Order: sequence, then C-alpha cells, then structure tokens
Amino acid sequence: MDALWCVVPAAGKGVRAGGDRPKQYQWLAGRPLIDHTLERLAAHPRIAGLLVAIAADDTHFAATETIGGKPLIVTVGGGERSASVLAGLHALPAGVADDEFVLVHDAARPCVRAGDIERLVELAGKGEGGLLGAPLRDTLKRADAGCHSIATEPRDGRWRAFTPQMFRRGALAHALRLAAEAGIVVSDEAMAMERTGVSPLLVEGSEDNIKVTTPADFALAEFLLGRTR
Ligand code: CTP
Ligand code: MG
Repeated sequence: MDALWCVVPAAGKGVRAGGDRPKQYQWLAGRPLIDHTLERLAAHPRIAGLLVAIAADDTHFAATETIGGKPLIVTVGGGERSASVLAGLHALPAGVADDEFVLVHDAARPCVRAGDIERLVELAGKGEGGLLGAPLRDTLKRADAGCHSIATEPRDGRWRAFTPQMFRRGALAHALRLAAEAGIVVSDEAMAMERTGVSPLLVEGSEDNIKVTTPADFALAEFLLGRTR
C-alpha cells in the first residue's frame, strides 16, 4: 500500500487539562506537546503527509509547510472533534482519491508507537479499515449518580478505542456527514462508520498510547515518550 495522509484533529480547548493554553500547546519534554505527535507521525514511512485541524482562534500553532520532509497542511476545525476531522478530510489534497485510506490521529496522543501504526495499516488495510485499541483489563462497574457501584458489567468483548483510526477518505467523510445530519455526536471515526454498517477491525495496540487529558497525564506522557519509540 502507498503511504497515507494523516488527519490530526488539534482544535480542542483541552478543558480537562487546565492550564493557560490548550493542552496540545502545553510543554512536554521542553516542547509543545503537538510537536512530538507531528514529528512521530511524519517520521513514519507509511505516512505521506499531515493535515492539522486547528481552532479558528488558534494563536499557538507554529505552521510550517513541511515536517520531516513531508507536506503539512493546516485547516480550521470545528466545535466537535468529528467536525474537525471532517474539515480535515475536505482539506486534503485533491490527489487523495475517495477510495484511498487515510489515518486520523489525535494531536493529544504523542506516545503512539511506530510499530502499532504499521500493524494497523497492514491489518486494517485488508478490509474496510479499523482502529487501534485494547481489550478492557479492569473489572467494569456501573455507577449511580452518587458514585455507588450498582452492577458489574461484562468485560468480555469490550475494548477501549485509541487512535490512529484508518478508513477510506470518501466513506469516512460520508459517515461523518450522516452522523452530523442526524444530530449525533460521534466520539470517534469508528462510531461514525459503525452507524453505516461497517464493522471496523480492532487492532490491539500498546496501552501507553495515552491521550493526554488531565494535568497528571503530562508527567506520564513525558515518561512514556522516551520508552515508546
Ligand atoms: N479536537 C478537535 N476539535 C474539537 C475537539 C477536540 O480537533 N472541537 C481534538 C483535540 O484537540 C484532541 C483530540 O481531538 O487532539 C481528542 O479530543 P480531546 O482529548 O477531548 O481534547 P479536547 O476536546 O481538547 O479536551 P477536553 O475534552 O478536555 O476539552
Ligand atoms: Mg474533548
């Protein structure tokens, strides 16, 4: 398979992370978090170029035309992650055909492993796409409003969903548009695809591909960065 473009949603506000700027621009190992993510993606032989979706009022992104020798395009995202991804799909170069696979990877996941990207592309590319994830390992509880555990849910067959996720450009754009028209906020690309009858392949990836979400996650990500090459 030829190298793929990767859409990177980076238009969030990072409310749960706090701080004086969105989390993707907070410092991690001496640089903005997003720099680590973009460099890791750009260094991957399977990736042809990067399309970064940033907020309309973003004042932090240091735009460059290339990164690691690969093209980098910037576009304006939307109010939900799914809208940012859809904007990114629209802004891809015209040469990316509708039936070509594209990757989507959260700006907030700087520790993604090259080997996991490789396996996702290899395995999910044989079908209609897929995503990195990991089976649940902890016992799963249902809570009431007061945080009392009222039931234990079956863990079998339950996975956590990570990124990258990989689908064909046209099919993913169509699925995201359908969800938006139905007023349904999809939390990831796979959810949009599931609604159109596709069953994305779950490819088990390393659990250290964390999404930096809370203030404590920065220290963990910094620790993991050096160990997830
Ligand atoms: N994202 C985006 N556009 C949005 C919301 C989120 O591009 N309207 C991006 C974020 O920048 C992040 C990724 O989607 O890279 C995953 O979202 P999440 O971790 O929820 O980030 P935020 O929405 O920024 O954080 P929070 O939910 O805590 O505000
Ligand atoms: Mg969010």
